[in-house]
Amino acid sequence: MAISGAKNSALVVLAGSLLCSQSCRIRNIPSLVDVNRMLEVLLALGVKVTRDGSAVDIDATAIQHTRAPYDIVSRLRASFFVIGPLLARMGVARVPLPGGCEIGARPVELHVRGLQAMGADVHIDHGTVHAYVPGSRGRLKGARIYLDYPSVGATETLMMAATLADGETVIENAAQEPEVTDLANFCRAMGARIRGAGTNTITIAGVPSLHSTDYGIIPDRIEAGTFLVAGAITHSELTLSPVIPEHLTAVIAKLHEAGGQVISEGMNQLRYVPGDTIRPIDLQTGPFPGFPTDMQAQFMALMALCDGNSLITETVFENRLRHVAELNRMGADIRLNGNCAIIKGVSHLSGAPVLATDLRASAALVLAGLAANGTTVLEGLQHLDRGYECLEAKFKQLGAQIVRRSASATAEAVISV
Ligand code: UD1
Repeated sequence: MAISGAKNSALVVLAGSLLCSQSCRIRNIPSLVDVNRMLEVLLALGVKVTRDGSAVDIDATAIQHTRAPYDIVSRLRASFFVIGPLLARMGVARVPLPGGCEIGARPVELHVRGLQAMGADVHIDHGTVHAYVPGSRGRLKGARIYLDYPSVGATETLMMAATLADGETVIENAAQEPEVTDLANFCRAMGARIRGAGTNTITIAGVPSLHSTDYGIIPDRIEAGTFLVAGAITHSELTLSPVIPEHLTAVIAKLHEAGGQVISEGMNQLRYVPGDTIRPIDLQTGPFPGFPTDMQAQFMALMALCDGNSLITETVFENRLRHVAELNRMGADIRLNGNCAIIKGVSHLSGAPVLATDLRASAALVLAGLAANGTTVLEGLQHLDRGYECLEAKFKQLGAQIVRRSASATAEAVISV
């Protein structure tokens, strides 16, 4: 099974291409609704965008506008990322506040405080963040920034902003997610001077400008993890590539604990071999290298069918357990206590009409549908289409019976065995 390029890398690397005063080619970009929206934001800023299969050419030599349009930002939180590059390159940025979403309030005060520490004047007016760099040169200044929480988005925003700042920036308690490292590698390929990405302290020495590059982004660890759980929940052997196994350490450890085997074959291939039963596990989500919150819902579907009781604790987002009610409609036995889900494994799930509440919840319901007796009809595919490239085609290739009832985004998927 072929794993696509990482959604979360693609989104931030596309925003990061605004830093470059020449054109860039970015390869391995997945075809996703979220990616299309980020490209729309770039187009709205007057940047030239050309798509060539999974490669995208971005020519941001001239940025025509410094205001990101509300109608796109409100549909794609990640488009807030353009604030860092715009401010660094143009000395001014106006980006609507992205607001909350299905999984939580998702504030951006860590991004804003970091930009202020770098000398930006930032105020929020009529729901838009207005940021500008005072002074005739319009350049941010290097600063020492401690993040109260290792936020992925804040680390990425501040790292991008610092690449073109005067002097050195140190981000302490930085996020260590592989997508942060991928962004740093992309920026370095354009001539940025960044050390320590992938650790909790990132040091960026500002440079006057960045140059053209041709960069391929990493494979999607969450898509790979979702397929590994598909193997576990359907007791099927499957092989995935390309993957970077170190990006999946916590997920692989939990799959082993649940009784399966994940075998590394060469540098970039993983094989899942099922065990006899699904054993119960406890897990708690956390920043990388902890267990990814983006895999929590899929593991909950798996634990619904385990031989015993499991406990899943969500610590990253405050409202990321809405799939519990839908899994229970399929016969799961899951109780909620605050941010904890107490899961009593059942012998089988039964197909039912279910509603996707967010991106990873929809993946979890597909997984549950694959394992359930009878047919599951999943509504709300607009969530799934944000983050999984060709999901039905890939599952069909693995032998699943899954059809999309209509081509529209709000269509239903019918999943049966
Ligand atoms: C990114 C990923 C998302 C993943 C998440 C955690 C992208 C496009 N999305 O989201 O898929 O689930 O990392 O791995 O890369 N927070 C604050 N204040 C801030 C910023 C964040 O309180 O200024 C809080 C958030 O509300 C949340 C927690 O920090 O509770 C983690 O958020 P963060 O790491 O920033 O996630 P995102 O970058 O939004």
